[in-house]
Amino acid sequence: MTDATDPNEATDQAGAAPTAQHHSADVDRSGTPLCELRDIKVSFGGLHAVDGVTIDLFAGEVVALVGGNGAGKSTLMHTLSGAHPADAGTILINGEPAVIHNPRDARRFGVEVIYQKLALADNIDAGANVFLGRELRTLTGALDDEAMDAATKKLMQRLNPRFKNLKTPVQSLSGGQRQSVAIARAVHFNARILIMDEPTAALGPAETAEVRELINQLRSDGIGIFLISHDIHDVFDLADRISVMLQGKLVGTVDKDKVTKDEVLAMIIMGKQPGDVTNEEIAELH
Ligand SMILES: Nc1ncnc2c1ncn2[C@@H]1O[C@H](COP(=O)(O)OP(=O)(O)O)[C@@H](O)[C@H]1O
Ligand SMILES: [Mg+2]
Repeated sequence: MTDATDPNEATDQAGAAPTAQHHSADVDRSGTPLCELRDIKVSFGGLHAVDGVTIDLFAGEVVALVGGNGAGKSTLMHTLSGAHPADAGTILINGEPAVIHNPRDARRFGVEVIYQKLALADNIDAGANVFLGRELRTLTGALDDEAMDAATKKLMQRLNPRFKNLKTPVQSLSGGQRQSVAIARAVHFNARILIMDEPTAALGPAETAEVRELINQLRSDGIGIFLISHDIHDVFDLADRISVMLQGKLVGTVDKDKVTKDEVLAMIIMGKQPGDVTNEEIAELH
């Protein structure tokens, strides 16, 4: 646990329970990865947006995908989510080759994207959103609101115990709570791999703390998360490993616990490997 007497921690978390710092070594990487992207290539005309990138993700792991604007992060994740298929390369899910042409294919392999602009129906409550388009019905075919509410309540108790607004239209929920609803929906329908693109970008400190706790809960449930983020603090708080992209290529994948923030910045900006970077170059970063 973080030190509750640390004044920075107290302000940052704004009443949230302190979250334990996660360590890369806590993840079991001895078996088959949940997901591997091998030698993925995507071109737009003559532009190699993703140029032979290989990354993987284990159950219960958060892999941050970082890099400057235009590095190819979103395009790489689009090949996994089915938004834009790869031109070349292989996707393996639990060690088996997976053909993903569209989001429906991706969902069948347990891949869900939590969009920054969350795709929720604003005027209905959390439960109705969790089950939207996949409603539970009674034997007579009527909507089984009671069953959907009970299932949502149970899900939320596990994912985000502070979520209390089960009957509120989601438009009046905070950004962090809306994200909880989107994640509950994905998890209820058996998502094993979540892609989160800048999940805390539009959130204040208390909501950011809530989303961080949510991510830690998902991790302990054995879900794997690809986290696209340009917030180096989020990355160091949440990720187990960090994969860095620059101009469509993978610079490298590092254990969060084995690098400094400056070394990761040098990877992002200069494409330098940790260890190859000089003190002068580090100074130039600041
Ligand atoms: N649909 C598209 N058509 C043409 N070029 C694209 C398209 N999507 C992305 N690109 C280009 O591919 C490169 C990688 O973009 P992107 O994957 O969005 O990077 P990132 O998410 O790291 O900022 C950029 O040069 C971008 O302009
Ligand atoms: Mg992007």
